[in-house]
Amino acid sequence: MPRTLIAGNWKMNGLRADGQALAWAIAEKARAMPVSGPELLVCPPATLIDIIVEAVADSSVVVGGQDCHAAQSGAHTGDIAAPMLADLGCRYVIVGHSERRTDHGETSAVVRGKAEAALAAGLTAIVCIGETLAERDAGRTLEVIKTQLAGSLPKGATAANAVVAYEPVWAIGTGRTATAAQVAEVHTLIRHELKGRAGDPDMVRILYGGSVKPSNAAELVAVENVDGALVGGASLVAEDFAAIVEAAG
Ligand code: PGA
Repeated sequence: MPRTLIAGNWKMNGLRADGQALAWAIAEKARAMPVSGPELLVCPPATLIDIIVEAVADSSVVVGGQDCHAAQSGAHTGDIAAPMLADLGCRYVIVGHSERRTDHGETSAVVRGKAEAALAAGLTAIVCIGETLAERDAGRTLEVIKTQLAGSLPKGATAANAVVAYEPVWAIGTGRTATAAQVAEVHTLIRHELKGRAGDPDMVRILYGGSVKPSNAAELVAVENVDGALVGGASLVAEDFAAIVEAAG
C-alpha cells in the first residue's frame, strides 16, 4: 500500500502573516502525530513558499507549488518555472487543477508539459483530472477521466515522481462531495489506466479532492484505491486540516 498523502491547496489565499501562522499551527500539529501516519503537504501561493518552507522546517510537513511552467526559464512574464520551486525547497507541484484548466485554458497537453518540467526539476507532480457536472450528467465521466489521464500524465511517470488527483469539478468548493461509490468507480478506473502508463502503477498515489472535510475524510480515504486527499477550503484551518490527517491515518 502506498503511504497516504494529505495535501492542502491554499489556492490564492493568505498574506505573509496569515500564511506563516497557519504553517506554524500545522507544523505543531504534525509534530504531535505519529511518524508512521500520512505524509503532510501544504501548497501555498507562490509568494509565500519561501516563508512557509522556513515555518515548517522543524516538522515532517513538506511544501509544494500550485502550478509551474513547462519551460525551464525564459520570456514568460508572470510564470514560475519548476526549478524555481525546487530551489525554494518545494518537493511537489500541483499541475492541471481544474481552476487552471478553466481560468487559463490549460489543455491536457499543456498540463503534461508542466508535469514533465516538474519531473525534470526533481519535483513530484500532482496531476489533477476530473469531470464537470455536465459531463457526469451526460454519462461521460469515465471517458473524460480516461482521456484526461492519458493526455496529462508525464512521460516517465512512476510512483516516486507522480501522484494523480481525482477532483470532480462539481465537488470543488461546493460542499457537494462525491459518494464513496462514485469515488470507488473512478479510482478503480484510474488504477487500471495507470498500468502501462506509469512505473510501479499499484504504488502511484491517487488522491480524491472536492469538499473534503473532517466529517467525510475517513469515509473517503477508506475507499479502495484512494491514497489520500487534496484539500482546498478545509486546509486553511489548521484544526480541520489536522483532523483530516487524523481521520485518514
Ligand atoms: P475544496 O477544493 O476542498 O475547497 O473543494 C479542493 C481543490 O480544489 O483542490
